[in-house]
Amino acid sequence: MTTLGLRARFSLAMLAWVTLGLLAVGLSASALFRSHVEQVFHAELEEHLVELIGLTEIDAGGRPRLARPVSDPRFGARGSGYYWQISHDDGLLLRSPSLGTASLDDRLAHSEGITHIRAPGPAGPAMVYGMTRRSTGGETLHFLVATDTRHLEGLVADFRRDLLVWLAALAAALILGAALALQLATRPLDRLGAAVAAVRAGNARRMGKPWPSEIAPLAADLDRLLDSREAMVAAARIESGNLAHGLRTSLAVLTDEAETLADQPAGATLLAECRRIARQLDWHLARARAAAGQGPVRNSSLPAALAPLLSAMTRLHQGRDIRFTANGPEASLAIDPEAFAEILSNLLDNAGKWASAEVDIDWQTSAGRVTLQVTDDGPGIQEGALERLFVPGVRLDEQVPGHGLGLAIARDLAEAAHGTLVLAPRADGRSGTTAMLTLHAGANS
Ligand SMILES: Nc1ncnc2c1ncn2[C@@H]1O[C@H](COP(=O)(O)OP(=O)(O)OP(=O)(O)O)[C@@H](O)[C@H]1O
Ligand SMILES: [Mg+2]
Repeated sequence: MTTLGLRARFSLAMLAWVTLGLLAVGLSASALFRSHVEQVFHAELEEHLVELIGLTEIDAGGRPRLARPVSDPRFGARGSGYYWQISHDDGLLLRSPSLGTASLDDRLAHSEGITHIRAPGPAGPAMVYGMTRRSTGGETLHFLVATDTRHLEGLVADFRRDLLVWLAALAAALILGAALALQLATRPLDRLGAAVAAVRAGNARRMGKPWPSEIAPLAADLDRLLDSREAMVAAARIESGNLAHGLRTSLAVLTDEAETLADQPAGATLLAECRRIARQLDWHLARARAAAGQGPVRNSSLPAALAPLLSAMTRLHQGRDIRFTANGPEASLAIDPEAFAEILSNLLDNAGKWASAEVDIDWQTSAGRVTLQVTDDGPGIQEGALERLFVPGVRLDEQVPGHGLGLAIARDLAEAAHGTLVLAPRADGRSGTTAMLTLHAGANS
């Protein structure tokens, strides 16, 4: 099961918060606007009604007429949506030109106080204001002023449209701001990851400084852990070095003695066993070093690391006239020099043992890695056997001396330095084998 990343969590929370917040702002703003516009409409209609009543005169025949037209010209225009009407119980008396032949329902004006109601008008829903007055003749006159609610709805819709555009812009700005804030806030986490990776790759020894207060304790703890590991590794190295030294000295004495007896069967066995023990010792020491090597790493460098090994190899294979050539740029590798020398000496020893005339060592650096190839012109290895040879003790040709441990040691050490080691047939089609070692580049390459 994968857990949601911090960034995803924050983004989701932020998105929910922005959506909810803007929804609340949008709804409350449009409700507020509507109530405000309604108040203005109501006040306006009430004023018109009061004006209509003030302008109404009753003539000698008892019929109402207006002293002058109402001040708002919209009552005079057809289709304007603004209407007034005066009627009595027996029927219509006067109406605004805007009404044309239509009329308003005079029951909506039913009390001496001003009342208002939403009701169907001549052109759809309308807001109707009305009141009654008693004429001098004792008749009840119904005064009505109305306006289509589409005016109100149109204003509200316009406002909502504008508000939506504005809120969308605000949402975009908020999300962008949150994304920037998130980026800024989580940058130390990226740095933390990079710092741990650098320690792992051997490019840094400690977490470094400064860290934000939330991360500083973690970085400090990691540094303390690295301190204690480094101390443990150092102690283990000293101990295994002492052990090897103690055993090797005695073993060298035994080997010397065995050599003097080599012409007797028992002496030959003794000598072979001594050499086997020496090789086993190498193997266990290499394993101890590989395990210890998971601590902080010292760097090795090429071609410097090769020089002593090449002269040793040339001497070792003196009788067979094998030519060792090395070719590659200056490079630093994230591996302990002793481990690197051990790997190289095993690869060079194999190549020298199997080559007929030439061993080429070349290396390249790219994308933070160094790839080194040791190629011989020997008989080559069957493809099917290539991987098996890394198993301790496995050897293909019992005629050639060896203990079958070299490749196992070399791979252990390479992997302890987060590298890889593989065997492959020569790439150029000639017979021979290439051992390919890939390691992380060191800090200063
Ligand atoms: N370059 C090579 N060409 C041909 N065969 C090889 C080559 N390198 C290794 N081998 C084969 O792989 C086997 C294992 O090699 P490895 O280095 O592990 O052991 P070794 O050389 O036999 O003994 P040791 O290295 O322990 O003295 C060898 O015995 C040999 O058969
Ligand atoms: Mg070997």
